[in-house]
Amino acid sequence: MEHLVNAADGMKRAAAILRSGGLVAVPTETVYGLAADATNADAVAGIYAAKGRPSFNPLIIHVDSVAMAQRYGRFDGRAHRLAEHFWPGPLTLVVPLTENHGLAPAVTAGLNSVAIRQPSGPMAALATAMDHPLAAPSANSSGRVSPTMAQHVAADLGTKVDLILDNGPCPVGLESTIISLVADTAILLREGGLDRSFAAGIVGPLINPKPDAHVAAPGMLSAHYAPRIPLLKDFAKPMPEGMVFLGFGETMREPGLNLSPSGDVKEAAHNLFAMLQELDRSGARSIGVAAIPHHGLGAAINDRLQRAAHGSKE
Ligand code: TXA
Ligand code: MG
Repeated sequence: MEHLVNAADGMKRAAAILRSGGLVAVPTETVYGLAADATNADAVAGIYAAKGRPSFNPLIIHVDSVAMAQRYGRFDGRAHRLAEHFWPGPLTLVVPLTENHGLAPAVTAGLNSVAIRQPSGPMAALATAMDHPLAAPSANSSGRVSPTMAQHVAADLGTKVDLILDNGPCPVGLESTIISLVADTAILLREGGLDRSFAAGIVGPLINPKPDAHVAAPGMLSAHYAPRIPLLKDFAKPMPEGMVFLGFGETMREPGLNLSPSGDVKEAAHNLFAMLQELDRSGARSIGVAAIPHHGLGAAINDRLQRAAHGSKE
C-alpha cells in the first residue's frame, strides 16, 4: 500500500493506524510532525525509537481545543489569553500537568509540566477523531533539520513511519514558539513561528533563558538542526571552492538559493529548512549564509542558523 498519501484522502487510514498504536507523519502549519496517540505508551516509545531521540527530551501534545488541553495541563489566566489569541497556531504552552492526565509517562519525560499546542489542519482533526491528543515531535531523525515537505519525511524516516500525510509545504516553515508558564514570569523557551512581539503584549515581558542553561527545554541542545556539510553564518568573505550560498534580499551570490529575493523574513522562514536541505544534498562542500535581519521571524531564523552552524561542525 502507498505510504505517502494526500492528506485529505488519508485521514481515515491515519486515524486507524494511530488507534492501533502506529506512527503517522502529519503536516501542521509549522513543520511535519511524527504523531502517535499520546496516551499509548508503546506508540510513544515508537516515536523515540524512529527518531533516535534521547528519552530525556519530552514531546509536545497536539490538541483540538482549549477544552482538550485542560484535561492535561492547568491553564491560568495567561494561558487562556495566549490560547485565545494564537490557537490554532504556531504557539506551544508549557503548563503544569493535571492529576490523572493519562498521558504515557515518556511524553513528559518525567517532568511535572506538559507542552501543549493546538495546530490547524489534519493534526487537530485527527485529535478530534481519536478524542486523544497526539504526541508529535518534528518528523526528522534527532539532530537533523525539521521537515517542511512530505518528501523530506520520506527521505529521512522512510518506512520507520507507517503513513505520511502530504499537505504540501508547511506555510510557516519554522517550529512553534514555546513559552513556559510554569513560573510567575513567562519564559521564552524557543523562538519560533510566532513573532514574539505579539505574545509580549499579552503576558508581559518574556524572559529569555541563557543559551544552553539546562532550564526547562531539554531539546534545545545547541547542536541541532544540523546539515551534513559545514554551515557558515553571516558569511561575507570570498567564497571558497565548493561553497554554495544561501542569500537574503540583495545579499546573493552564485551558486546558491535566495531565502527571499524581496527581503521578507516571513518568506525566508517559510523557505529556510527546504533550502537548507536542498543545498545540503547538492554535492557542495559547505554552505555560506547571508546575514539575516533580527526583526520579526528573523530572531527565530537566526536561532536555527546558529544551531545549524554549531551542529554541522561536529
Ligand atoms: O512546531 C512544532 O513545535 C513541531 C510541530 C510538529 O508541532 N514540533 C516540534 O517538536 O518542534 P520537537 O519535539 O521537535 O520540539 C519540542 C520541544 C523540545 O525542545 C522539547 O524539549 C520541548 O519542546 N518540550 C517539550 N515538553 C516540554 C516541557 N514539559 N518543558 C519544557 N520543554 C518541553
Ligand atoms: Mg525537532
